[in-house]
Amino acid sequence: MKIRIDGKTIDMRAVWLEDPTRGIVRMIDQRYLPWKLKFYDSISVKETFYAIKNFVVRGAPTIGGTAILGAYQAVLEAAQKPKKFLREFRRRIELLKKARPTAYNLFHALNTMYSHVIDLLESGESIPSIVSSARELATNYIEEEILEKNRRIGIHGERILDDGSRILTHCNAGALAAIDIGTATAPIYHAYEKGKRVVVYVDETRPWLQGARLTAWELSQQGIETYVISDNAAGYLMWLGEVDIVIVGADRIAINGDTANKIGTYKLALAAHDNKIPFYVATPTTTIDPTINSGKEIPIEERSEDEVHFVWGELDTGELSRVRITPQGVKARNPVFDITPSHLITGFITELGIIAPNEIRNLVSKLVQ
Ligand code: MRU
Repeated sequence: MKIRIDGKTIDMRAVWLEDPTRGIVRMIDQRYLPWKLKFYDSISVKETFYAIKNFVVRGAPTIGGTAILGAYQAVLEAAQKPKKFLREFRRRIELLKKARPTAYNLFHALNTMYSHVIDLLESGESIPSIVSSARELATNYIEEEILEKNRRIGIHGERILDDGSRILTHCNAGALAAIDIGTATAPIYHAYEKGKRVVVYVDETRPWLQGARLTAWELSQQGIETYVISDNAAGYLMWLGEVDIVIVGADRIAINGDTANKIGTYKLALAAHDNKIPFYVATPTTTIDPTINSGKEIPIEERSEDEVHFVWGELDTGELSRVRITPQGVKARNPVFDITPSHLITGFITELGIIAPNEIRNLVSKLVQ
């Protein structure tokens, strides 16, 4: 993604392997955006677990990418105790799996590294050769399973955007959420680069404000015409006829096409359906969980009620501050994802092309063969 710092534009990813030998993983610390560009260096599996759990990084594909790097750290740490390698490695993978429950990409990445390491152990590879193979797998996973897929989502999705399209998106399914390019934003960037005029309405996305803080920051860095809207304004803009298409990301997709995404997505899909506005989910196929039949089985994360009670922001002095917006003593609920039933989804923009919800089942049987 392009980031402007001190008048210069630089290209940066949301997370990367800064030092392959020591296993240092560097990430843009998303807790401080859009106010400050800070970095978080993780030098251990424990710190990577902390980063995923506490929103240093977030967004399903970035969680997957950070997890694959964490799994590489797990290999490095286990290699310190060669006699107990498997036990130590497995313990760390299990810890990383507990970081967040909903985004399937976390499990896809960890299972990919786990099976790879088990295969190497079974074929009698030495520990140093397992370490170097794990490093290669982690880097390739980010390039091919994440970035290349995002690029293809952009190519397929651009075709459904007209010159002048007014797009509504929710949460942050941009580069910060998908290491680079993004999923929901990939078609938008592609259309923009091809010279199409695009306007993006960004839901602020209470309670953590991923839209207002992150998507608005990303899109404005790219120079795209962007309007942040309150979550409550989305239905009205649709009713007015000012939205041509809705594109969101996904955290986990069931075989029947039901989709978990950021809380509030379901209400958007209902409003889009009522106003006959196409509703697309832009996602790599690595977000499809082949073990889950319907949305009812998707585990939905419920986070601390403090995320509802308090809001972070920048004071006029430039200091960051947290303010309470609810009465003392009142209780809150904070489910952070919801399920959009497949019948409300027009299509999935994937790296393989645009797929109808009822085609997911077939796709899964092909992918798991
Ligand atoms: O809780 P978050 O910020 O990790 O949730 C992120 C989302 O819901 C995104 O829309 C989704 O992961 C798609 S990311 C390309």
